[in-house]
Amino acid sequence: MTAVGSTPYGWFDESAREYVVTRPDTPTPWINYIGEGGYGGIVSNTGGGYSFDRDPRNRRVSRYRYNAIPADQPGRYVYLRDQETGAFWSPTWQPVRRPLDAYECRHGAGYTRIAGELDAIAAELLYFVPPAAPCELWRLRLRNAGVRPRRLRSFSYVELSYPDALADQQNLDWAQHIFRTRHEDGTLLACTEFRPDTTFFSSSAEPVGFDADRERFVGRWRDLADPIAVELGEPSNEDSPRGNGIGSLCHELELAPGEEREIVYVLGIAGDADGAARAVAAYREPGAVDAAFAALRADWDAYLARFVVATPDPAFDAMVDGWNPIQCRTTLHWSRFASAYETGLGRGMGTRDSAQDTLGTVHAAPERAHETLTRLWRLQFLDGHAWHQFFPLTGEGSVGHAAERPAWPQWFCDDHLWLVIATCAYLRETGHAAYLEQRVPYEDGVEETIWEHMLRAIEFTRAHRGPHGLPRIGFADWDDTLNLDHGSGRAESVWCAMQLCRALLDLAELAGELGREAEGFRALARETAAAVEEHCWDGAWYARAFDDDGRPVGVAAEERHRINMNPQTWCVIGETAPSERAERALRSMEEHLGTELGIALLDPPYDGGDERVAGTATYPPGAKENGGIFCHANAWAVVAAAKHGWNDAAYDWYRRILPLLRDDSDRYLVEPYVYCQNVCGPTHPQFGMGRNAWLTGTASWTYVAATQWILGIRPTYRGLRIAPALPSAWDGFTARRLFRGVAYEIAVERAGPGNAVSLEVDGVAVAGDVVPLPPPGRDRVSIRATIAS
Ligand code: GLC
Repeated sequence: MTAVGSTPYGWFDESAREYVVTRPDTPTPWINYIGEGGYGGIVSNTGGGYSFDRDPRNRRVSRYRYNAIPADQPGRYVYLRDQETGAFWSPTWQPVRRPLDAYECRHGAGYTRIAGELDAIAAELLYFVPPAAPCELWRLRLRNAGVRPRRLRSFSYVELSYPDALADQQNLDWAQHIFRTRHEDGTLLACTEFRPDTTFFSSSAEPVGFDADRERFVGRWRDLADPIAVELGEPSNEDSPRGNGIGSLCHELELAPGEEREIVYVLGIAGDADGAARAVAAYREPGAVDAAFAALRADWDAYLARFVVATPDPAFDAMVDGWNPIQCRTTLHWSRFASAYETGLGRGMGTRDSAQDTLGTVHAAPERAHETLTRLWRLQFLDGHAWHQFFPLTGEGSVGHAAERPAWPQWFCDDHLWLVIATCAYLRETGHAAYLEQRVPYEDGVEETIWEHMLRAIEFTRAHRGPHGLPRIGFADWDDTLNLDHGSGRAESVWCAMQLCRALLDLAELAGELGREAEGFRALARETAAAVEEHCWDGAWYARAFDDDGRPVGVAAEERHRINMNPQTWCVIGETAPSERAERALRSMEEHLGTELGIALLDPPYDGGDERVAGTATYPPGAKENGGIFCHANAWAVVAAAKHGWNDAAYDWYRRILPLLRDDSDRYLVEPYVYCQNVCGPTHPQFGMGRNAWLTGTASWTYVAATQWILGIRPTYRGLRIAPALPSAWDGFTARRLFRGVAYEIAVERAGPGNAVSLEVDGVAVAGDVVPLPPPGRDRVSIRATIAS
C-alpha cells in the first residue's frame, strides 16, 4: 500500500505534518503560505512567490509575475556560484533550473524548507515569518558534502515592489521614477521621497557586495536564469536611483570538507529606516532565529492540538489533524485575496467568505473569529445588508463585481445572513454571550449591539422578498455568477430562503437560551419554508431560483440548468424540507450531478452565453459555477447527508473531493494537501483538473463536515454534542477536543447499526447526546459513546 497522499511528485510525511515535494517540476507551482495575516506571503516549491504586509494591494513588499513564462517567478532566491569553475545554480531549482543531484521541498504549517544539492554542495533554505514580526526570514544553510575545500559566492535575489502594487504594475514610469533602493551597512533600503515606509533586505553576515538594481544585476536581454552579476561573480555595488529595486547581497564562503555555514536573510517593511534597522537587529541576536522558528512551531502546534482524531481512515486523519485546519487558518487570514490565482491586486476580502472562514477555525482560534466577526459587522448598513468586500488595511468597502452593472441590485442576498450564522456558531463554541451586547458601528452611522445588528440582517431579508415570498436574490446569492435580477427587483433565490431558515433557527435557539423572544424567528422560518414547499418543489428536486419574470431556474422543464445542487443540500441544512422530499432531493442530486470526483454544481451547463443568468453562462460548460465541481458546495452535500442520516453517502462524498486521495497529479494539477475551489466537471474536456487551490470556503466547510457531522462532535450552548454519522465500515474512533477550556477525550464505538448514541461521561451514564458542561475547575472529561440503534 502506498502512503497517504503519495503522488508522482511527492508524499505526505505524517509524523512531521509536512507535504514533501520530491520533484521541482510539479504540474503547477505547489505553494504554501508564510505569515499569519500580518506580514506574509506565498512560497512555492521552487522558491517562487511574493510578500506583503497585511494587504497585498496596498502594502506589497515583493513582486511576482502572474501567469508569465517562465512560470512562477520571481521569488526568494539564492544563487550559488563555484568560484573556481564559475558554475552557478539555484538550490531551489528555479530560476536557473539546472538539474540538481538532490531536491526536496517540505511545506509545513507556516514554513517551507527547500533543500537542493549539486556537486557536493548541500543547501537548505528555510522560509518563515516569526509570529507577529513585520518581516520574513530565509535561513540558508550550506554544507560542503565533498572531500575538497570549496570557495563559493552566494547572491540573494528578491524583486521589490512599490507598496501600492496596482500602481507598481500599472503606472510604470511613475512608480519606477519614485522608488529608490540604496545600500547602508549591509542592508538594502527601498522607499520613495514622499512615503517613509521602507522595505528592507539584510542578512546576518557581512556581505562582500550588493546589487540594488534589477537591470544591472540581470544585464541586458538576459533573464533570471543567467544574470550577468552571477555569471561574472561580481556584484555591481551600486545603488538604484530609480527603476526596479532588488535585494541582492553577495557573500563569499570558504567551506572545508564537512563544514557548514549559515546566513539568515531578513526581508520586511517598516514605518521608516529606523524601524527597518530595529527589525534587522532583532534577528542578529544569537539564537533569535531558532527561537523565532520554535515560537512559530509552538503556535501552530497549540492551534492544531485543539482537535485531534484517530479513525480507521488515514487520509481522513491526515486531513483533519493537519492540512485541513492549516488551510482553514490561512484562508481566514487572507480570504480570497492573495494566492497563485488571486493576484492580490483586486478584490480585497470577502464578507461572506470571511464569515464562513470563521466556522472552521472558531474552535481553535476563537479570539480571531471574534475579531473577524466584529470587523465584518462594521461593514453592515443600517438597513441590514453589508458590503460585499473590503480592504483590510484601509477598511474601504465595496459591492464587488456588482459595480460592473450599476442598474442591477448592488447587494448580495447572503452576506449579512452568513454573519448571523457565523456569530451563532461563535457563541455556541465560546458561550461568550456578552458579545451580543458589544456595540459596533454601522457603515452609515450609529452604533448598536451585535444582537441589534443580527436583527437588522434578518429584517433586510424579510423586507426584500419577491413575488413568491422568497428572498430577492439581489446581485447574486452565494453563487456569485447567478445574476438573475436585471433591475426588476423581482428575481428570488430559493437557496437563500433555505439559508434564511438556517439563520432564523440559529437565532431562535440563541434567543431561547437567553430567555428572549424566539417565536418571531420561528414563525418567519415556518412561513419561508412553507413558501419553498409551495412554489419550489419541482417533482423530484427543488428549483434553484426565479428570474425577473418569475420563471424558475433549475427545474426539469428547462433545457439548460435543469438541476442545481445547492437547494438539494440546503433544504436539509436549513431544515425546510419534510424528510421524504429531502431524501428525494438528495437522491436526485446524486443521480443527475454525481461523479467519482465530486458532485457537479448544475446540469446541463449553459453552452454559449445566456443573458438570463448572465455570469454563470460566461463560463464554458463544466467550468466553475457552470457545471463544474464546486468543492465548497460538495462540503454542504456531506453535511446534508450526515444530517439526514445517510452516513455512507456523507463519507463517500467527503472522499470524492479529498485532495490527499488524488494521486493523478498530471490530471488534477494542483496541490494534493489542500482543497482547491473547483474541479472541472464531467462536461469539460479537462474533467478532473483542479483550479484555484488554497483560498476557498471549501476549507472551513469540509472541516465542519468532517468534525461536526461525520464525527458529529458539535458545540452547543449547553455542552458538547456527540452525534456521529459514521460510515458503516468504521467501528469507531477516538478524538481529543478542547471546548471552553476543557479537554474532552472522546471514544466512540459502534455496537450496532443506526446513529443512536448512549453516553457515559467519566464513567457515569448521561441521557441524550449532549455532554453537559462540567463544573468550574474541571479541565478534563472523558466520554465513551456507544452507537447502536
Ligand atoms: C468564490 C467566491 C465566493 C462565492 C463562490 C461561489 O469562491 O469567493 O464568495 O460564494 O465563489 O460563487
